Amino acid sequence: MIPTLEWLPEGVNFLDQTKLPLEETYVLATDYRQVATVIREMIVRGAPAIGVAAAMGMALGIERSTAATLDELTAEVAVIAKTLAETRPTAVNLFWGIDEIRRLYNSLAAKGTPIPEIKSAVIARARQMYDEDIAACKQMGAHGAALLPMEGTVLTHCNAGALATCGYGTALGVIRAAIKRGHKISVFADETRPFLQGARLTAWELMKDSIPTTVICDNMAAALMRQGRIQAVLVGSDRIAANGDVANKIGTYGVAVLAHEHGIPFYVAAPWSTIDLATSNGDRIPIEQRVPSEVTHINGRQMTPDGVGIENPAFDVTPAKYVAAIITERGVLRAPYAESIRAMAINPPPPAERVPA
Ligand code: MRU
Repeated sequence: MIPTLEWLPEGVNFLDQTKLPLEETYVLATDYRQVATVIREMIVRGAPAIGVAAAMGMALGIERSTAATLDELTAEVAVIAKTLAETRPTAVNLFWGIDEIRRLYNSLAAKGTPIPEIKSAVIARARQMYDEDIAACKQMGAHGAALLPMEGTVLTHCNAGALATCGYGTALGVIRAAIKRGHKISVFADETRPFLQGARLTAWELMKDSIPTTVICDNMAAALMRQGRIQAVLVGSDRIAANGDVANKIGTYGVAVLAHEHGIPFYVAAPWSTIDLATSNGDRIPIEQRVPSEVTHINGRQMTPDGVGIENPAFDVTPAKYVAAIITERGVLRAPYAESIRAMAINPPPPAERVPA
């Protein structure tokens, strides 16, 4: 299992994804502000991993607080939540992770629970969210494996794998599950400019699992589709609106349009915490703009002329009409998504009916 992030007695330990694949080093956050920095600087990244990192950041902030009264601690919790919420705007899992711990804190504080008990409870919940994330990935794998061809090549964009979650992965989890069930699948990994999550991270973790993987530049997918060399596209998501529009890493939209043009199914795998029922459609999803240097420089070396204009949106939105299915731990959603998402929200399958991992 790839240790993306881990709660330790000393703090929260993160595999430094900015250094992969050349170095496997860790960053220990002993303070919630450090967790915020780790998220902002993409030492940890990927929506589900960010969600659990934020929950652990909340728990860490509460655990390390020296507040003597509940009133003082409540004021601190508001600051901790705000600091973590200001890191990255697009992945809704971040806000979900913060809110899970804040809700638990509020309910315990409202009952006048002693501070040491509150500290233990929030740590236990954050650690449980870690386990639940891995279980959700396994469930997505169980639900989604049958959608993939028995033999063929799947294109993925960005990294929606073990590194983007607490383990196993969403899109890559479905690929892992399909391979475990006997599908003969190889992967094309889009390099995913500018941060190179595909070239650096997807390739690294799939090779660790001996899954046949080929990295392509982002502009090569169209030609490969036309040559009949891609049988399915499978990506993760940072936020899915209530109508099924999907925000994911910049470049995903183009891949979805290409897949549509070539009659290739475009699938999305994401935990239920990625679905944002409060956001009606994709146009309302906030898109993170990152620093120009990610585009102008590669490995610290400037690639563009001084002073040229730069755009660096980190995500785009794929309209629901291009999405063949959304794979969640609760089951597979199909169009029309406004209805299938609403129905699944109102009536989630009871755990007993969920497919075993
Ligand atoms: O900017 P990143 O690396 O955090 O973006 C990650 C993605 O876009 C992933 O595809 C998404 O979070 C799904 S991860 C299971």
